[in-house]
Amino acid sequence: MKLAVLKERGAAETRVATSPDSAKKLMALGFDVMVETGAGDASYFADDLYKELGASIGASAAETLADADVVLKVGKPSAEEVGQMKRGAILAAILSPHGDPDGVKAYAEAGVNAFAMEFMPRITRAQSMDVLSSQSNLAGYKAVIDAAALYGRAMPMMMTAAGTIAPAKVMVMGAGVAGLQAIATAKRLGAVVSATDVRPAAKEQVESLGGKFVMVESDETKEAETSGGYAKEMSEEYKKAQAELIAETIKKQNIVICTALIPGRPAPVLVTEEMVTSMQPGSVIVDLAVEQGGNCPLSKLGEVVEVSGVKIMGHANVPGRLAADASSLYARNLVNFLTPLVDSETGALTIDWDDEIITGTALTRDGAVVHPQFKS
Ligand code: NAI
Repeated sequence: MKLAVLKERGAAETRVATSPDSAKKLMALGFDVMVETGAGDASYFADDLYKELGASIGASAAETLADADVVLKVGKPSAEEVGQMKRGAILAAILSPHGDPDGVKAYAEAGVNAFAMEFMPRITRAQSMDVLSSQSNLAGYKAVIDAAALYGRAMPMMMTAAGTIAPAKVMVMGAGVAGLQAIATAKRLGAVVSATDVRPAAKEQVESLGGKFVMVESDETKEAETSGGYAKEMSEEYKKAQAELIAETIKKQNIVICTALIPGRPAPVLVTEEMVTSMQPGSVIVDLAVEQGGNCPLSKLGEVVEVSGVKIMGHANVPGRLAADASSLYARNLVNFLTPLVDSETGALTIDWDDEIITGTALTRDGAVVHPQFKS
């Protein structure tokens, strides 16, 4: 069985779908691994590192894809790449199908069985395959490091002979995977940390990391969490009450890390222009939600903008700013996804199409779109 790992061609993409270590694991599962030349360069995984472990190097996407039974990518493939895939091949990547209905149709037409890894159900058995968690965790960490680098003051309290420096005040919007890591990282740097969310379950998690939890509690928040653990869109009335609470809190903050997301929808607006201008000059906002429209309407994708002395960071692909670690963890997620698909006795690929991990992630099967959200 041939497994192909393509080079990413997306503008801001630095990651690769297999590390040398994971390539070795894939070979132990019985795959002949071919990595497109240069695929790992931006993650500091040179072709030779894969080669030394027994993988082969493809000179082009076409050569790498030829006859491959499994194709691994980080982002979605180009139409040309899909055209070069074998009918019946498995494609696993972060396919972002919500914004790409034509792409989903193209996988079906090409007879490719495509799996959107970001749709992995949040169940215990699938935790090791959860690409959103592995990548968001790194993004939460990096957001705080980026903010600290841009902040013109120190993070911890420092008592020196020359005087005392007050600790930075950090507020985290959204206490999911990225938010919780941001809280932990800011605490490690010595900041005073608070966080907000619409899911009451987040309170205990924030407090266990030493953060102060602030939220508007109402009957609505009892229902704010979906069965998948995600947040729902809140009512206008709730949003108004939440905005008042955030406005009151944010003007005392030095750093704000925005991580709030609602799956399949634009990110909720939590930090308005008025709130930004109420902050002290020199403050920093990192908007991790910028690719979904942003929690702050002033953030710009791929840019650092300054408004009334407040710097607002809107880096694209923040996990990719830690490419080697992000690639390694993503690659392990894929190995963990593929392992149960390989029959340990025959070595053949066998997919249990009724398994909830498969039904959750499969977009297409045998020439048809099968995911309920995309079936026409
Ligand atoms: P996410 O990336 O979709 O959203 C980030 C955070 O923003 C969430 O905590 C969400 O509640 C919050 N948020 C959304 N709208 C908001 C608003 N208007 N105001 C304030 N906050 C808002 O979520 P993520 O990080 O992917 O985690 C979602 C859930 O999944 C969490 O409950 C997490 O504990 C759970 N989870 C479970 C796993 C498992 O059991 N396998 C693995 C990873 C996460």
